[in-house]
Amino acid sequence: MTPSRRQTARRRTTVLRRRAVLATVPVAVAALLGAAAPTAPGTAGAPGAGDPYFPLSGNGGYHVGHYDLTLRYDTATRHLDGRAVLTARATQRLSRFDLDLTGLKVTAVTVDRTPAAFRRDGQELVVTPRRTLPAGHAFEIAVGYQGTPQPVTDPDGSRDGWIPTDDGAFVAGEPQGAMTWFPANAHPRDKSSYDFTLTVPQGRTAVANGELLSQRTAHGRTTFHWREPRPMAAYLATATIGTFQVQRSTTPDGIRIYNAVDPREASSAAPVLKKLPSVLAWESKLFGPYPYRSAGAIVDHAPDVGYALETQTRPVYDAAPDLATLVHESAHQWFGDSVSLTAWKDIWLNEGFATYAEWLYAEQHGGDSAQKTFDALYASPAGDALWAYPPGDPGSGKNLFGTPVYARGAMALHELRGAVGDGPFFRILRAWAAEHRDGHGTTAQFTRLAQRVSGKRLDGLFHTWLYTKGKPNTA
Ligand code: TRP
Ligand code: ZN
Repeated sequence: MTPSRRQTARRRTTVLRRRAVLATVPVAVAALLGAAAPTAPGTAGAPGAGDPYFPLSGNGGYHVGHYDLTLRYDTATRHLDGRAVLTARATQRLSRFDLDLTGLKVTAVTVDRTPAAFRRDGQELVVTPRRTLPAGHAFEIAVGYQGTPQPVTDPDGSRDGWIPTDDGAFVAGEPQGAMTWFPANAHPRDKSSYDFTLTVPQGRTAVANGELLSQRTAHGRTTFHWREPRPMAAYLATATIGTFQVQRSTTPDGIRIYNAVDPREASSAAPVLKKLPSVLAWESKLFGPYPYRSAGAIVDHAPDVGYALETQTRPVYDAAPDLATLVHESAHQWFGDSVSLTAWKDIWLNEGFATYAEWLYAEQHGGDSAQKTFDALYASPAGDALWAYPPGDPGSGKNLFGTPVYARGAMALHELRGAVGDGPFFRILRAWAAEHRDGHGTTAQFTRLAQRVSGKRLDGLFHTWLYTKGKPNTA
């Protein structure tokens, strides 16, 4: 959808509480007392991953390799029964650690199959295992939980997470909604594989990321087992539920497509979804091979959501998308999903790239040239919202999805293309996707890569387009 439509969010301030971290004290005390303490206490994992925009998103002290989520959702009562089994590794000697989880009732927590103490503190589920975990220790966390999931309201006023609909739920976790439906290390710095076992009333369909491994109906309920084997950030997980028409196919490249479409959106969605294979093929030519084996679309009827999300392998749309939106969410599979952020501040690496993909698609399919789109935007007067803040430094979580990030972020890429030429520009995009595939990338890494591939000094260009306040002077 267009940046302006993405921006319809109402404003509301969210107050994030920060807990005092006294993590280093026990270690310091142990050191003062001399080495031999046999019951060395270890340290507590930090309550956040260190992101200034969302200080409590993610956690310190461990990484999650795999999530195994078993969920049963009653669409009539909106009751969720969940069990999450996380396979993790301690990155420090760990006496205690947090998971992100908001709302819901936790019924039991075990660590390595042994009951662990836990308490809730805002969005933190604080877990104290019976024994301190050695640094490097591989361990298993199991959490039983239940309740009525509620979405979170983001700093920009939009809602994300588990959003109930009239026939199920629209599930999209950017930037912080994963914690509304499963206990997670919910920051894109931590990427993991996932299994989803989703049980819903017979007649409803539950759609997650990756591949559908099995589907079984018994006693009036259907269980869907989905698996995403590639590393995925928690915000890109979905378990969207509704009454859906399902279409499956395989592209000539062997990508398996699974589309789930709300019947109320089916006639408008059909002509756009028909183009998904050709959009993926076109993007693969431009950006390098599609990063996944599965693809598709979840087209819900969720009139009060107001956005689509690039959920990994299978974006979720609040209504039948237009072609530009399909191109946008598909481009995110390379830029945002396969190559992930390490900090929300770098959001232009997702949205500027996906928006520029829309411009390129138009240019190569009989629409406006990217230059024409750039020129029309550049004509916006200095007081326009487009110039309200620089895309490389949005300043706060409430600016993540604003026009400067989407449109001026794309303008920055267009300026780069103009400065280095088409050949080097597309080599830069392909190298970015290839070198950071299934991993992470920062703005500094991108600008270094652009200079390396092009052989040009580009710091002035990036400084102007990414970091300078107000409308850049291009003369
Ligand atoms: N990343 C989404 C996209 O560009 C948009 C999005 C996700 C969003 N969550 C949001 C927009 C919350 C506004 C508010 O496709
Ligand atoms: Zn986007």
